[in-house]
Amino acid sequence: MANDPYVTLGAGYARARVPDSRIAAMIDAALGNARSVVNVGAGAGSYEPEGRTVLAVEPSRTMIVQRPPGSAPAVQGVAERLPVADRAFDAAMAILTTHHWSDLGAGLAELRRVSGRQVVLTWDPALTSRFWLVEEYLPEIAERERRLATLVAVRDGLERLGAMPTVLPVTVPGDCADGFTGAYWRRPEAYLDPGVRAGMSTVMSLEPSRVQAAMRRLRDDLVSGRWHERHAHLLGEVTWDLGYRLVVA
Ligand SMILES: C[S@@+](CC[C@H](N)C(=O)[O-])C[C@H]1O[C@@H](n2cnc3c(N)ncnc32)[C@H](O)[C@@H]1O
Repeated sequence: MANDPYVTLGAGYARARVPDSRIAAMIDAALGNARSVVNVGAGAGSYEPEGRTVLAVEPSRTMIVQRPPGSAPAVQGVAERLPVADRAFDAAMAILTTHHWSDLGAGLAELRRVSGRQVVLTWDPALTSRFWLVEEYLPEIAERERRLATLVAVRDGLERLGAMPTVLPVTVPGDCADGFTGAYWRRPEAYLDPGVRAGMSTVMSLEPSRVQAAMRRLRDDLVSGRWHERHAHLLGEVTWDLGYRLVVA
């Protein structure tokens, strides 16, 4: 499990990461008429669809124990070796997880082996690196993400497996309920809260002293009005395209 901070850092995940209903609706639509779905890298179960038969696969016990009571069954396992028979599911979903996989190609091949349709939520680093938090405060995020398996790798990987993936933008509501890294684009004060940052693996993977220094700068810019000089136009936006993408094959 290369790049997987969730083995040790996931304890507060379910608190920080509540599914957003508008993003859930986009994922649900992408799953089409699939009646059975395997959710790979399921975490605490965010975005598992209702009204369909779901099996969650997740490597981290810390995450599995945070699944809400009444959730779909979960088994411990990794994308690269799914404990599931060929074509056992109509669809496979992988939400904000491919960047943690130790072997993207093997994981995507497994999604294709076990399902007829694949739905992957990832992001385009060319766009996410222009997000103000990244560009102005934590450029290390962009540096690190250059090495991760995100949009191009996922799309090309699926194409190599014979799929013809479609890429759909997932815009982020200004009051997004989920707490992923870009969720607070219109609520900059939220990033100052360590509890909010605890749900963001991209931030948690950085040197803590570096993050603290960046957050001190953000706080100073919010107090002095410098942040608003640069970004006040965002406060009037309802949704924003930060670069999150659904890849559907
Ligand atoms: C950002 S969380 C996303 C969880 C969930 N899909 C969601 O949207 O809330 C990434 C998840 O990928 C899992 N993960 C890490 N390595 C994995 C692997 N090789 N195969 C499957 N899942 C993995 C982590 O344990 C973690 O739960």
